[in-house]
Amino acid sequence: MLTKLKDLEKDAKKSIEEAGSLEDLKETRVRLLGKKGDLTTLLRSLGTAPPEERPVIGKQANILREELEQAIKLKEQALKDAQRAGRWEEERIDVTLPGRPVELGQKHPLTMILDEIKEIFIGLGFQVAHGPDIESDYYNFEALNIPSEHPARDMQDSFYITDQYLLRTHTSPVQIRTMERLAPGLPVRIIAPGKVFRRDDDATHSPMFHQVEGLAVDKDISFADLKGTLLLFVREMFGPEQKIRLRPSFFPFTEPSAEVDISCIMCNGEGCRVCSDTGWLEILGAGMVHPRVLESSGYDPGEVTGFAFGMGVERIAMLKYGIGDLRLFFSNDLRFLKQFG
Ligand code: FA5
Ligand code: MG
Repeated sequence: MLTKLKDLEKDAKKSIEEAGSLEDLKETRVRLLGKKGDLTTLLRSLGTAPPEERPVIGKQANILREELEQAIKLKEQALKDAQRAGRWEEERIDVTLPGRPVELGQKHPLTMILDEIKEIFIGLGFQVAHGPDIESDYYNFEALNIPSEHPARDMQDSFYITDQYLLRTHTSPVQIRTMERLAPGLPVRIIAPGKVFRRDDDATHSPMFHQVEGLAVDKDISFADLKGTLLLFVREMFGPEQKIRLRPSFFPFTEPSAEVDISCIMCNGEGCRVCSDTGWLEILGAGMVHPRVLESSGYDPGEVTGFAFGMGVERIAMLKYGIGDLRLFFSNDLRFLKQFG
């Protein structure tokens, strides 16, 4: 039986030494020292040994148990150390490697167009004004002479938040806010860029888009001033060759009113999907400020007149860059955006 113990010792120490992982070591431990392990089994058969040998064998077995426990502990530590070293090797940072270049960002094409629009009008003496994206029914409609039965108020066109508040459907409420601020005597020359929201969604209509409002109020402002200003703008923006077309139109807050089209550069005016086969693309609405609007914001229509316009920034960007689908501006596709650097 003592020989058996010696054999077990040799085998056990070898197994511990050869354990390649913590898992391995755990299995080895169970095999040697577990309830059904080799050493335990050997001790159970102690009764079959001659009585005088039993104390010696018992003592040797206990010494062996302690030795094996110790060896396993040491091996466990060694395995853990090795594991940690391996991890360190994996995560090591080689500071001598060349750095990854940081990609430079650039302005969004709509921001570039907006900057250009602002620059042109600032050059004409306009100042930049802002209004809130969430507007009251009063500023978005009422003060602009839009009666409550007007289709623009329909729930199908507007995003209402409560009965009284909605996402503004155009930048025209900034007209009212500005006039209230400067009435009754100060001349007005402002543009108001910003986001607007409508229940629209196709290649030339987006549920969120940008407008730039324009407003000039002063003594003796005429329709000729409006036309001259818009023509100058279009020529600065698109070049002296660009054709425009003024169509009589209707807005409750201007009288007379017009819509301005630009010949479609996608198809050279021949007709395509972008211009709905008309050869023209509408970029803005405009007109002479309605006397009722002047009045409700504190100006005397007998003293002053004014013109106003509201242009679609995406439409201008589409024409300027030859883009067939306005939704591309909001897709955040870098392959698209990188072309405008
Ligand atoms: C208006 O919004 C008027 N407030 C403009 C105005 C201002 C008239 C001041 C008179 C005086 P309209 O709904 O037509 O008008 O929109 C103006 C421009 O916004 C359009 O000419 C078009 O270029 C653009 N636009 C309209 N809807 C969308 C849309 N869903 N997506 C992108 N652009 C649009
Ligand atoms: Mg329109």
